[in-house]
Amino acid sequence: MKKDSILILDFGSQYSQMIVRRIREIGVYAILCSYDISIHNILSKKPKGILLSGSPFSVYDKNSPLISKEIFQLNIPIFGICYGMQLISFLFGGKIEKSKYREYGKSYFIIDHFKNDLLFGIPKRSVVWMSHFDEIKDLPKEFKAIGHTSSCSIAAIIHKTKDIYAVQFHPEVDNTKFGISMLKNFILHICKCNPNWKLNKFVQNTVKKIKKRVSNKKVILGFSGGVDSFVSAYIIHKAIGNALNCIFVDTGFLLKKEKEKIFSHCQKMNFSIKIIDAKKRFLSILTGIVDPEKKRKIIGNEFASIFQMESEKIKNVEFLAQGTIYSDVIESSISSKLRKNFFIKSHHNVGGLPQLKKLKLIEPLKELFKDEVRKIGIELGIPKKILYSHPFPGPGLSIRILGEVNKKKISILKESESILSQELKKSNLYDFVNQAFIILLPVKSVGIKGDKRTYEYTAVLRVIKTEDFMTATFSRLPYDFLEKISNRIINEVDGINRLVYDITSKPPATIEWE
Ligand code: XMP
Repeated sequence: MKKDSILILDFGSQYSQMIVRRIREIGVYAILCSYDISIHNILSKKPKGILLSGSPFSVYDKNSPLISKEIFQLNIPIFGICYGMQLISFLFGGKIEKSKYREYGKSYFIIDHFKNDLLFGIPKRSVVWMSHFDEIKDLPKEFKAIGHTSSCSIAAIIHKTKDIYAVQFHPEVDNTKFGISMLKNFILHICKCNPNWKLNKFVQNTVKKIKKRVSNKKVILGFSGGVDSFVSAYIIHKAIGNALNCIFVDTGFLLKKEKEKIFSHCQKMNFSIKIIDAKKRFLSILTGIVDPEKKRKIIGNEFASIFQMESEKIKNVEFLAQGTIYSDVIESSISSKLRKNFFIKSHHNVGGLPQLKKLKLIEPLKELFKDEVRKIGIELGIPKKILYSHPFPGPGLSIRILGEVNKKKISILKESESILSQELKKSNLYDFVNQAFIILLPVKSVGIKGDKRTYEYTAVLRVIKTEDFMTATFSRLPYDFLEKISNRIINEVDGINRLVYDITSKPPATIEWE
């Protein structure tokens, strides 16, 4: 059966990905496209409905993202959210104004007109999540207001004759109590989508496609041991067996016993894997480098050149496989530039290798979100401890040693991280937190060990709780646990005499320190 799909036009909202996820949770295939997609391309995707996302812009801004009015002539149901609602109104000739107060957070939405499909089954008064500066001042004559909040007189609208709906609040956010019901009303009843987007045929279909495409050629894959590269490797291996060549580059910045762990997992899965020992190379190119961005760039480039060299050694290679997932695709889309007004840090991972000369790309997971990748991993029988392991950045421990990296510091950090990981698992806290690690500061302080003065490094414990790693808070770990970690690290690791706990959220901090 052909899958129905919904198109989300992305105007740069921080919640755009969330809309896609919510719709997929309803069981309908959703794709995010840049707001400037042509009408021709919209039609070629044959969507049964279109959502217009929020945006950090105001419709009157000089460079505000706009769409052609033609979209309203397509006879495809449309649902505008926040900026999406202001944009619909603006394009129909309505007036938008800065509201007196920025409305941010919970609000009560009151329905004024019940007779419409969007609000079917929603109580008269319910909590919604608002985040806006602007609001509709004059509604175009073709529309009717159907609800308000105490500070926003027009909080939901519908077109009088066409299937065009919009709300000022964010139905995709958990805090909007009946948000999912509204999305369901739109997608299942107004757009009449069949909720038949299921993952169970995904592996079967993908394996078939890869087998046909690769035929008797070979594929190389930059293997990091993370969830995405593991599941990608598994699917490709299922399709073509040992024509898949995994390459793992040991930068020397890995956790203790990580390489051995990855190697043993690969052996269990029968993957053919080549481990490249590049520890000396990486250490030497980082000598004297202190600036975090320079470190990241040098590591990324070195990684790519090693990979290029290795790939040339294998005969008959025609494809490069990558563990790209849908969030990576979205992040590199045009509309994501609207979100990136200022640069923070250049992430490096094996999924994001520059494309190698002459090789065609295979990205089996590029339509899936992380939670969907994990579901597939479970279906495939990949151990949970791989699928739910904490993320580990591509540049590894090198960005957790602030300032210049050297052998001694790497060894201090490896030992400390190993103690942290053991204790988290022993206390059943590993799965309770989303990421936990140690950072080594280039700062020494005075202490006492065994009645003797010490002058050693200070380390930081960073443990966070997060849904999506885009925002995070520090984890409120029990004091007893913190005490145990501190005692063990200070007593067992030579070179550290002080451990501090990072209690900063993201934003304003980032999760990693560099
Ligand atoms: P930040 O520090 O940007 O980190 O708040 C967000 C998440 O991304 C991980 N991270 C990376 N992952 N390559 C990766 O594959 C990288 O270069 C990289 N830098 C940060 C970080 O550990 C956290 O989970």
